[in-house]
Amino acid sequence: MPTIGVIAGDGVGPEVVREALAVLAAVSGPEGFRYETVPFDIGGERYLKTGDVLPDAVLADLSRCDAILLGAVGHPDVPPGVLEKGILLHLRFAFHQYVNLRPVRLYPGVETPIRGKGPADIDMVVVRENNEDLYVGAGGFTRKGTPEEVAIQTSINTRAGVERCLRFAFELVCSRGRVRPFRGLGADDLQAGKVGLVTLVAKTNVLTFAHDLWMRAFTEVARDYPEVKTEYQHVDACCMRMVVSPERFDVIATTNMFGDIITDLGAVLQGGMGLAASGNLNPLRTAPSMFEPVHGSAPDIAGRGIANPLAAILSAAMLLDHLDVPRASERIRQAVARVLAAGTPRTPDLGGTSTTADVGRAVLEALD
Ligand code: NAI
Ligand code: MG
Repeated sequence: MPTIGVIAGDGVGPEVVREALAVLAAVSGPEGFRYETVPFDIGGERYLKTGDVLPDAVLADLSRCDAILLGAVGHPDVPPGVLEKGILLHLRFAFHQYVNLRPVRLYPGVETPIRGKGPADIDMVVVRENNEDLYVGAGGFTRKGTPEEVAIQTSINTRAGVERCLRFAFELVCSRGRVRPFRGLGADDLQAGKVGLVTLVAKTNVLTFAHDLWMRAFTEVARDYPEVKTEYQHVDACCMRMVVSPERFDVIATTNMFGDIITDLGAVLQGGMGLAASGNLNPLRTAPSMFEPVHGSAPDIAGRGIANPLAAILSAAMLLDHLDVPRASERIRQAVARVLAAGTPRTPDLGGTSTTADVGRAVLEALD
């Protein structure tokens, strides 16, 4: 029986994970999908009490899970970086979760701040490289604390690391295209047999070493996928275009740093942090993949029972996709779509007055 490790974490993490687990339980039974959950007590609270961030024994236990559901880690009393590096980045690296998959989809009934755009225009997926770049922690200080201080943080880009991420993006476009060709393709593209579009987002005009490698790898991998249309955008132009013409994007492949940034913008396009889901994937399945809402622990609203649980619930749906229970994950997405289309209940981030529990219950009731 598959084991799902649960790191509820800090702040609103436990509040939204509770709802996600209830939905997971409700859809799994009818699909004959049986699993067990194992809670892991790590995060800011434990660190403040014991000084433990991610003890080796906990890492070993987590490595035996089939997947991990994470709420959020981050605590106002813990210095920045301790938990993010010690838990999130550590797990992503240790378990070779080299793709961070972040769908950006506007559900009908949700308002986007982008004027004149609707659900037909906003349906893209960001494939963020998740094991390299500036996040590796290569660097250091010299003369720290003096006026002559130097701080260096090095972006690591390996050919193998870049290529496996790009191949994932091309495969993803193909599988999306099999369901329905990308709506942004022109008649000539369809005529030429194209099914989707991968946009490489980087900064080749300035990062002339690292992103030269990305560009060369992109061009070479693209040759293996004649049915995929390709395009390149600098990251700054991409930010502008995501706002002005989001309908131009199908799958975006990008670096760890740029993916981190543009997916907060993506979250806004789809109605806010309360709706953005993600998966840290180990596509080779040599270690568990980890699913989490894009948002953090939201200390400003924690403990009030008003966090939006939908991002966590949609992350649980991605977890079911990964564990090959696609019917159950589709039922979750349909239930979320029904609740959002109904307009109520909604948490305050979506303009409503309902609680986390109200929305969780509504999703359960909307399951067909
Ligand atoms: P945040 O995502 O926690 O909050 C940003 C804003 O979005 C806040 O106004 C918050 O109230 C709102 N928000 C977030 N989630 C929401 C939800 N489910 N429903 C309604 N509103 C929601 O980002 P912030 O404030 O920058 O970081 C807070 C802490 O979380 C920090 O310690 C940070 O390091 C950590 N963090 C952890 C992440 C993770 O565990 N994956 C990701 C991002 C931040
Ligand atoms: Mg981020």
